[in-house]
Amino acid sequence: MTERATPAAIKKASAILRRGGVVAFPTETVYGLGADGLDPAACARVFEMKGRPRFDPLILHESSPARARRLFARVPAAARRLMDAFWPGPLTIVLPKAARVPDIVTAGLKTVAVRVPANAQARALIKAAGRPVAAPSANRFGRLSPTTAAHVKKQLGGAPDMILDGGKTSVGVESTIVTFSGGRPVLLRPGGLPLEEIERLCGPAVPAAKAGKKPLAPGCLKKHYAPGARLKLVDRGAKVKTGRAFAYLAFDRKPAGKFAATAVLSQTGDLREAAANLFGALHRLELSGARVIYAERVPPHGLGRAIMDRLRRAAA
Ligand code: TXA
Ligand code: MG
Repeated sequence: MTERATPAAIKKASAILRRGGVVAFPTETVYGLGADGLDPAACARVFEMKGRPRFDPLILHESSPARARRLFARVPAAARRLMDAFWPGPLTIVLPKAARVPDIVTAGLKTVAVRVPANAQARALIKAAGRPVAAPSANRFGRLSPTTAAHVKKQLGGAPDMILDGGKTSVGVESTIVTFSGGRPVLLRPGGLPLEEIERLCGPAVPAAKAGKKPLAPGCLKKHYAPGARLKLVDRGAKVKTGRAFAYLAFDRKPAGKFAATAVLSQTGDLREAAANLFGALHRLELSGARVIYAERVPPHGLGRAIMDRLRRAAA
């Protein structure tokens, strides 16, 4: 059932988590499909519900930076700087795991991915549950991530024991994932926290390939975040086909011509606003029944890096 994320509903959801159930809940990035992160059986249900391969590890969510740090075996100084600056927020940090983190969460890796969400309802839920909450994005494996409770319902139906509805998520793309190599940051997935902000505190990031981090984020498969229609990347102003079989995702202004549906990510060309609107727009264009969705390339800096990453995967 879907319930508005009131304090009473959050309490109920926390009780479901404590007895091994699965709850979809809002974070500032996308909706998560949460389970008790220390309970292997509960985590197994999350993998099943998503249709997600077991080799793809989950992120643990905590209610405070102090609690989050305890999920790691050790924390290098550079990682500590990022935690102090950006938690709570759309940043996931991957470091050697503490012994109590179950293998199913990390898919057998010696490292664990952890974050403290900025969304107050998410933190209230985790705090009331009293344990780390393992949560991948609440979509079927390989499909678009959900930024509203309705998106979750569309893909997962009645499978979760509860869906907490906290409205549209504010950031709209998944968290940025970083790890460290020789004290330097390594970007595993661009996301809601711009890389520039991380580099300002920790110096230039090492390209993941050079750091020998392979497989990177195992979930970052080439084809991912895919809508039901075929997605084609185009430059603004490029010549495209029009008509009922085609939809168009524009960055900052509506395209000329007739389409099954069009969407503009940000009228003012603001990359943050564009990121917040990205998955909602793709969900809508997918519903138009178009066979092909044209998606305009956006400037590849700041949040544009995360947007382009998702568009490239959807087009793969
Ligand atoms: O914003 C987010 O991060 C959302 C919300 C719900 O918090 N969660 C999310 O989870 O995007 P998910 O499961 O869809 O993506 C997590 C990514 C996967 O690509 C996974 O492979 C990677 O994190 N990951 C998890 N643990 C890892 C580890 N130990 N080393 C490298 N990558 C890891
Ligand atoms: Mg995901």
